[in-house]
Amino acid sequence: MDIYERLEQDHDKQRTLIDRIKQSEPGSETRAQLWTDLKIELEAHASAEEQAFYSKLMAEPEGTDDTRHAIEEHQQMHEMTAKLDAMDQSADVWDTLFGKLAHKVVHHVDEEEEEFFPDAKETLSDSQEEEALRMFNKRKAAEVDKQEELAD
Ligand SMILES: [Fe+2]
Ligand SMILES: [Fe+2]
Repeated sequence: MDIYERLEQDHDKQRTLIDRIKQSEPGSETRAQLWTDLKIELEAHASAEEQAFYSKLMAEPEGTDDTRHAIEEHQQMHEMTAKLDAMDQSADVWDTLFGKLAHKVVHHVDEEEEEFFPDAKETLSDSQEEEALRMFNKRKAAEVDKQEELAD
């Protein structure tokens, strides 16, 4: 598995969790658990992705624009996630804002896979990609631990 396949594996997990939340009952235990899982996944994935992957791309002139755009979207998703986390999950407004976050996340991961990863493949060397994968796996595990502690 290369760094791109590894990131796509997380993206698929995010897409699945979003679908399952949409199908869950508002205010239910299931929805609360799925939301916690998605929140941890989104925050940990974005942090590890920035630390291991975008940091390498940012260091290359060709990678700067994609990196800036992706990090800006990470920040927007982070703000929406924090807002949703503080809201009553049985309220209609929760569903409305969740719909917006879901749309943003799906747009973001599609854009990474269809535009940014092909650009990165042209920009990064094989050894940079191998290093990114090693670092991503390490950072993702540490970020999940951190987010799980915050969620407790
Ligand atoms: Fe991302
Ligand atoms: Fe990603």
